[in-house]
Amino acid sequence: MKLIVVVAKNWAIGFKGGLLFKLPGDMEFFKNTTMDKVVVMGRNTLLSFPDGKPLKDRTNIVLTTNRDFVAEGCIVCHSLDELFEELSKLNDDDVYVIGGGNIYNKLYPYCSEAYITKVDAVVSADAFLHNFDEDNGWYLSYASEIHEENGLKFTFNTYKNKMAETYEQKDSK
Ligand SMILES: NC(=O)c1ccc[n+]([C@@H]2O[C@H](COP(=O)([O-])OP(=O)(O)OC[C@H]3O[C@@H](n4cnc5c(N)ncnc54)[C@H](OP(=O)(O)O)[C@@H]3O)[C@@H](O)[C@H]2O)c1
Repeated sequence: MKLIVVVAKNWAIGFKGGLLFKLPGDMEFFKNTTMDKVVVMGRNTLLSFPDGKPLKDRTNIVLTTNRDFVAEGCIVCHSLDELFEELSKLNDDDVYVIGGGNIYNKLYPYCSEAYITKVDAVVSADAFLHNFDEDNGWYLSYASEIHEENGLKFTFNTYKNKMAETYEQKDSK
């Protein structure tokens, strides 16, 4: 399982239910990366999409504790156990955690990689991501050149989970 997100310098990811930045290049990266894959999100993130509709051409899994919540075109899971049961039927490499703050911060320990688009701006927010730069269990394995759109500088970064790599090495022995 992998994670994909866009963050500000202060690891801010959202405000009042919406995104913080409009970056077509990052949207394209998100679309290309998740196309035909499985995306896992919290209920708030699903509801932040236009008309609360799932993402096209992807298997959408939504987490909510509300057993009455119905989301057309989505698989609904009511706990992490239920989610992992659902994911056990799928190829782990095809699964992307796509937000929001609550779900990223619960699921990042289970991810092998995190694709983090970092925007060179500090903004007010009410949703934040775990700080991967301060987590010794993760390291930065790739950072792109600087891109610029709408007056904002940003980079594409890949962080890797050291624990996942340890398991992979053990598996290959
Ligand atoms: N920057 C980015 O890349 C990015 C990406 C996505 C979203 N966002 C932003 O993030 C913000 C939304 O984040 P958020 O933290 O408010 O919400 P969220 O993570 O999208 O959803 C939280 C909801 O998920 C459900 N949930 C959480 N843990 C669960 C569990 N263990 N079992 C079952 N359900 C569980 C709960 O739904 P119930 O209350 O129904 O039980 C909870 O209220 C928005 O501002 C959005 O724009 C940013």
